[in-house]
Amino acid sequence: MILEVQNISKSYFSGGNTSGRLILDHLDLNVKQGERIAIIGPSGSGKTTLLNLIGTLDRPDSGRILFDNIDLSEMDDKQLSQFRNGKIGFVFQQHYLLPQLSLWENVLLPTLAGKKQQNTEREERAGRLIDRVGLSAVMHQKPSALSGGECQRCAVVRALINTPMLLLADEPTGALDHSSSGILADLLVELNIEEGVTLMIVTHSSDVASKMDRIYSLVNGRLTDEHSL
Ligand SMILES: Nc1ncnc2c1ncn2[C@@H]1O[C@H](COP(=O)(O)OP(=O)(O)OP(=O)(O)O)[C@@H](O)[C@H]1O
Ligand SMILES: [Mg+2]
Repeated sequence: MILEVQNISKSYFSGGNTSGRLILDHLDLNVKQGERIAIIGPSGSGKTTLLNLIGTLDRPDSGRILFDNIDLSEMDDKQLSQFRNGKIGFVFQQHYLLPQLSLWENVLLPTLAGKKQQNTEREERAGRLIDRVGLSAVMHQKPSALSGGECQRCAVVRALINTPMLLLADEPTGALDHSSSGILADLLVELNIEEGVTLMIVTHSSDVASKMDRIYSLVNGRLTDEHSL
């Protein structure tokens, strides 16, 4: 298993409430290397919360998450940031591109920390991926000059640039029309097959979900594989 989520719970405390609101309730999930998982569920059900915990941007209140047999709760902040940068690609629900950088610079940013590849190698990969999502013509533009869908495609390329083992994508096609959404989902599946990157995609699109191996629905704080698309 590349990922074992064991019995995790997460509550949010807000507005001075002393009893938190339970979002994830003893949730379990096992994912094999190279699998393609879709997560669906109503707004507010905790999908982003779950990706944030798996992506180590937040910690569960209880339970544990193992990545490649390593317990993430045992890593310190420095180890976690190295782990995130090298092993995980994250496409956020909001794309979080840096406005002062061009699309090209945004894509290459995550490679600066690792230094594991030669410049030419990572630039070749960036160019190839940018071409595949149809952004070559605008790659020297800043995000403010791009459409929402173009920014989203750029965010997907940025998440893949370091050849992660696991791609966590939070509605990566939410801002795209039907045809662009299909092209992007096909690209993710191709990279999954070519590079073995494990995909975990939150989506409201039944077309995108149907391209995955397994579809889970997040209901009442737990995942179930009963769903209706
Ligand atoms: N930092 C936070 N503090 C307090 N409550 C939060 C926080 N983050 C999320 N929540 C609450 O937790 C619940 C789950 O949020 P989450 O963002 O995980 O839902 P989601 O399934 O991703 O929804 P959507 O489909 O709208 O993106 C929501 O009710 C939200 O208001
Ligand atoms: Mg969300």
